[in-house]
Amino acid sequence: MRHPCGGLRRGHVGQKVTLSGWVHRLRDLGGLTFIDLRDASGIVQLVCRDLPLARKLSREDVIRVEGTVQPREAPNPDLPTGEVEVVVDALEVVARAQPLPFSPDEEPPRASEETRLRFRFLDLRRPRMQRNLRLRHQVSLAIRQYLDRQGFLEVETPLLTRSTPEGARDFLVPSRLEPGKFYALPQSPQLFKQILICSGVERYFQLARCFRDEDLRADRQPEFTQLDLEMAFLEEPEELFSLIEGLLAHVFRETIGVELETPFPRLPYQEAMARYGSDKPDLRFGLELTEVTELFVESELRVLRQAIAQGGRAFALRVPGEAGMSRKELGELEGVAKAHGAGGLLWLARGEELRGPLAKFLPQPAALWEATGLEVGDLLLVVAGPWETAATALGQVRLELGRKLSLIQEGKWCPLWVVDFPLLEWDEAEGRWTARHHPFTSPRPEDLEKLLDPSFPRERLGELKANAYDLVLNGVELGGGSIRIHRPEVQARMFEVLGIGPKAAQQRFGFFLRALEYGAPPHGGIALGLDRWVMMLAGESSLREVIAFPKTATGACPLTGAPAEVDPGQLEELHLEVKEG
Ligand code: AMO
Repeated sequence: MRHPCGGLRRGHVGQKVTLSGWVHRLRDLGGLTFIDLRDASGIVQLVCRDLPLARKLSREDVIRVEGTVQPREAPNPDLPTGEVEVVVDALEVVARAQPLPFSPDEEPPRASEETRLRFRFLDLRRPRMQRNLRLRHQVSLAIRQYLDRQGFLEVETPLLTRSTPEGARDFLVPSRLEPGKFYALPQSPQLFKQILICSGVERYFQLARCFRDEDLRADRQPEFTQLDLEMAFLEEPEELFSLIEGLLAHVFRETIGVELETPFPRLPYQEAMARYGSDKPDLRFGLELTEVTELFVESELRVLRQAIAQGGRAFALRVPGEAGMSRKELGELEGVAKAHGAGGLLWLARGEELRGPLAKFLPQPAALWEATGLEVGDLLLVVAGPWETAATALGQVRLELGRKLSLIQEGKWCPLWVVDFPLLEWDEAEGRWTARHHPFTSPRPEDLEKLLDPSFPRERLGELKANAYDLVLNGVELGGGSIRIHRPEVQARMFEVLGIGPKAAQQRFGFFLRALEYGAPPHGGIALGLDRWVMMLAGESSLREVIAFPKTATGACPLTGAPAEVDPGQLEELHLEVKEG
């Protein structure tokens, strides 16, 4: 019987064992060959004495050995099997490996991302990737266990469907049977889960595959997985918050043994922006922004005065003890602010004397010290401009400082709920209101009348708040959801506000609107990005490290060569023609 390599311990000393696995590492000392043998359970050292075949092995060959467990002369405390080794009596080569483009024993691998993905079967053999796959499995298992106990039903929804508006482009699939028509792959199961609620499934969840054709980043893949859930008779977010807090606590405990403190803080969107310059604040460190508009209204510094006169705001960030920061470093920080839309970054160093572009233009220094807590030895950074742009730019500077000054404590977990988002956003390019979350999100109860009131001024619709919430963890948006609109007339009004007329609404969402007309209970839900969640639990910084077969930044799969051209015959069947150029 085959014994798992990683399971051998002192207690096995003296036993005869049969092992199979991959040759992870080889050291040939003439008549003596040491092999690190690896299988999914771990690595163990083999010792081959006078076995000529052992000297002919290559890394990643698959072998089968029989041998005796003995104590290791020089124990390796880094290896769970490090106290023993197996002295080999018989060795058989099961499968040979070609010369390797890179070796699974390299950590981190020196190969390029492209090579790693092209030879993903080698890359996934790395113990770190095996650990990540196992962790992902454990997270899914813990989620299912918890939600099952809470009375949730896992229901699968279609992948070949109609477009769901989540703000990205759709991936389309042409229909052969109805030429000229297309399925869309779901950006999320949003409408299906709401229809399930209308179908009497009171508590739904799914580990759902979602598809979004959008620009990719380290925390975005075109194909990703959500833990998607929805609850009937949910009228206030609090019930959902405590359920999700319990879920997170359970998953953290079961998978990485961390106890999360609940309840998580709740932060209104306005406050998150004003204090951290972000709607997904990283609370692992302080450095809060202060609004200082009033203190600079009369500043002689033209850029500041002008920005404020045009309705802009000024935000300041106090950086304790950094009055001596070099101009080069300040220039780099300004680069960050500019990359996020700021016109520039003003600064003031409060040393023995005042230094920096703001030094001569302080209308009310004492009030500024008081408002920002600036002490001798500190640095003050200021950005002025439109409210959201100025806060965001300084928020990014804050994050950069967090990294640069090592303010972020490793191993710290800071989840929070961001609430009270605006319901609508003005789309300058299209000249119309768009839904900030999605068009099925209800306004806060106190704003419902305003939404329904046709005489409410259109230009003030931006004041309405959504009954929506985001779950943020260490500065990453882990999930988002809302209490939904369940009354057909409210949904119709929402479409109208978004510039989707009754005809267009019927055409695109008629199937869904019909479901709301036959007894739709109040409901709400959330979706958490499973890949992002596992990435964070694994301590990785890219989703590619926790998805078995991910895409590159250009949406390609180097392993399979997808996307690829297809046979002309296939195109013909679909009544499609590819235009040149
Ligand atoms: P939303 O669009 O906010 O909400 O998505 C929910 C969560 O999914 C993750 N996510 C992604 N992960 C990897 N790659 C991507 N391209 C990507 N896009 C999103 C994020 C995000 O927080 N239907 C609504 C949910 C609801 O209202 O219940 C929705 O999809 O972690």
